[in-house]
Amino acid sequence: MSAKINAQEFARRRKELMAMIEPNSIAIIPAAEEKTRSRDTHFTYRQDSDFYYLSGFCEPEAVLVLIPGREHGEFVMFVRERNREKEIWDGYRQGPEGAVENFGADDAFPIDDIDEILPGLLESRDRVYYSLGRDPNFDQRIMSWINTLRAQARAGAVPPGELQDLDHFLHDMRLFKSATEAKLMRSAGEISAQAHIRAMKTCKPGMYEYQLEGELHHEFLKNGARAPAYNTIVGSGKNGCILHYIENTKKLESGDLVLIDAGCEYEMYAGDITRTFPVNGKFSEEQKALYEVVLNAQYAAIDAVKPGNHWNQPHEAAVKVLTQGLIDLGLLEGNLDELIADQAYVDFYMHRTGHWLGMDVHDVGDYKVSGQWRVLEPGMCLTVEPGLYISPDNENVDEKWRGIGIRIEDDVLVTTDGHEVLTASVPKTVEEIEALMAS
Ligand code: GLY
Ligand code: MN
Ligand code: MN
Repeated sequence: MSAKINAQEFARRRKELMAMIEPNSIAIIPAAEEKTRSRDTHFTYRQDSDFYYLSGFCEPEAVLVLIPGREHGEFVMFVRERNREKEIWDGYRQGPEGAVENFGADDAFPIDDIDEILPGLLESRDRVYYSLGRDPNFDQRIMSWINTLRAQARAGAVPPGELQDLDHFLHDMRLFKSATEAKLMRSAGEISAQAHIRAMKTCKPGMYEYQLEGELHHEFLKNGARAPAYNTIVGSGKNGCILHYIENTKKLESGDLVLIDAGCEYEMYAGDITRTFPVNGKFSEEQKALYEVVLNAQYAAIDAVKPGNHWNQPHEAAVKVLTQGLIDLGLLEGNLDELIADQAYVDFYMHRTGHWLGMDVHDVGDYKVSGQWRVLEPGMCLTVEPGLYISPDNENVDEKWRGIGIRIEDDVLVTTDGHEVLTASVPKTVEEIEALMAS
């Protein structure tokens, strides 16, 4: 598990982006901000995905600037200066020297000098590309740099006339994973898979949901994945019906299912897996019946992941199997096509079948192009995660079904001839799960 994005790949991404934007433009990308957790303690810092994608640089208080065609270099960075005192307390900093030497910047300046230098870089550029409206503070800073130039108009300064959103170009690039990115996503998927196996093997009645969370996170960390890609969900019994349940405080009861939605972040790439299994190792009749409907829906949806199919086809495949299953079990009554057209399933299945997956768990990239569902192409990566959630308060169904929540989620890469499931090593059939839990 040692693939890494190298300097050439970061450079290639910058070049590709610069080739996409209009000539005589400038693109500006800020680093993520540090966030306070309590008083003087911060949340673990995590670089902004766009910033990292173009630089590999992990420090806060930095701004990356791309200026295609600039004579003195197209790639400019503003970073924190080195500071002996601060480095003793808080760790090593690259400084402008390191940004040039280790990160390929053509020019690098102290971040404290940005208000003096950036207006000069904007001067005579027609267009500024940045992520419009994502961070109000940064929007304001861009405007203040442009206003600095406007104030100098009589001295001949020419401010840019257009602001344009950068996300569209950059996020389309991020949607297609390179060979190295696919390797990292395989690692994220495999570490996440091992964590789920560990949770299944450890689980027994009387434990608490957070103890399974601990097992998962132990496996992540042990394998160099220093953080979960999102807050881990361990929902037992009716908590499995709460889609984003993250309290994880309940005692695990024999006879209940437990739904675990957890994935690690490895080298900035996310895994995202859900498995649902019986706390005591054996599915009840009702649990098994519903589980097999969800599993068959997931198989049908995964089958629909291939080049040439469009984004919504896996969802449509899942909805069809889920609705038929609900009819077969007596939870819905009526004609399959009509129930699908009326979205009768939404009482039991209220989310979509997946999302793009990459550096962000709900990754970037458009789902529609010119009003049409996007066609799947090799290199795209998505989750496939159908579920059924029978609300504990649903009085329209037989009591025996109430409070059962099931989701099954895998990560799938579109390949030239179909797909590759990146998270296939965690068992998901009833037989496989029961065998693993008995071992
Ligand atoms: N864990 C969030 C999701 O599955 O989308
Ligand atoms: Mn998930
Ligand atoms: Mn997901």
